[in-house]
Amino acid sequence: MRVLGIESSCDETAVAIYCAEQGLLSHQIYSQVQMHAEFGGVVPELASRDHVRKIVPLIKASLEENGGDWRAIDAIAYTAGPGLMGALLVGSAVARALGFALNKKLIPVHHLEAHILAPLIEPNGLDYPFIALLVSGGHTQLIRVSSYREYELLGESCDDAAGEAFDKTAKLLGLPYPGGPALARLADAYESSEQSILRHSFPRPMVDRPGLDFSFSGLKTYVRNVVERDKAQGTLSADRKNEIADAFQEAVVDTLAIKCRRAVSQTGIDQLVLCGGVAANRRLRERLSELDNIRCYYPRSEFCTDNGAMVAFAGYQALVGERDGVINQLDDEQHVVRPRWPLFELNR
Ligand code: KG4
Ligand code: ZN
Repeated sequence: MRVLGIESSCDETAVAIYCAEQGLLSHQIYSQVQMHAEFGGVVPELASRDHVRKIVPLIKASLEENGGDWRAIDAIAYTAGPGLMGALLVGSAVARALGFALNKKLIPVHHLEAHILAPLIEPNGLDYPFIALLVSGGHTQLIRVSSYREYELLGESCDDAAGEAFDKTAKLLGLPYPGGPALARLADAYESSEQSILRHSFPRPMVDRPGLDFSFSGLKTYVRNVVERDKAQGTLSADRKNEIADAFQEAVVDTLAIKCRRAVSQTGIDQLVLCGGVAANRRLRERLSELDNIRCYYPRSEFCTDNGAMVAFAGYQALVGERDGVINQLDDEQHVVRPRWPLFELNR
């Protein structure tokens, strides 16, 4: 059983082939980052047009890596939402055209479910139930995953997502788009972190309140005030920027770690999954792995940010779910793209 996966929800065009027996056979990503950098963020219309240019060559390349024969592919999975409308339409139109022409089964995939299942792509001992910390550009959620398609929201951000906070803070520090990884690099380059007063003075939002919700917009304002004060005093040196980046990253990581520990004690589930673009953050991985009595799992970095492997894998899981009667038959009705699509609508 082989599933071709197509991802085009935002600014990455990605294609992969997942095989039930052999695992991942191919994965190809084309990132539009450089194109959007000039504008300081994703321009939806440019994203759609670039997906149109790249998607067919990527599908061809993936297929050719595996002998170039469509007969070896059993189904085509594509991201149906949430994401940018035009970008999603490119992936779904290509998937549907191929499905129709080649008589392949089509599987619409929920982008966030694909992120959550990504740590299961490569065998690592992880099994249900687990707690997922989903941290991406648009979402920060703690989710109890009791089993496939049994998702319960435990907490989420009331304002900015963690990735969004990274990106906005990076902009304040004058870093180019995409800010998250650039800010993380500055933070990791700061050598005197243990002595940094700033590191300990940054707020850890909402940790003193009960519950599992987050808020990151205040942290960004805090950085703005520090940067403006430094500028006024002429002290915003390159090293000081590294120190600010380090203090910000530490505050976000600390806050996430505190809430993860709380989610584990509240549910009694000791397996923690880290997923979504911010899961690529080195310090966050390190910090969560150090939590006592918690087994922490995360996908390889290239499967944290948007990729086709997670879509192909989520598509395969849907086929297994359908076969086992866990979910309804995947029918044509579902083949619409949904720019907004709450994860919890998937529940069985
Ligand atoms: O999951 P993703 O690729 O796209 C969405 O579905 O949103 O996540 C992108 C987000 C961006 O906000 C990006 O800045 C952030 O993930 N990100 C990081 C790192 N790599 C990506 N944030 C912090 N540290 C990183 N290393
Ligand atoms: Zn994503």
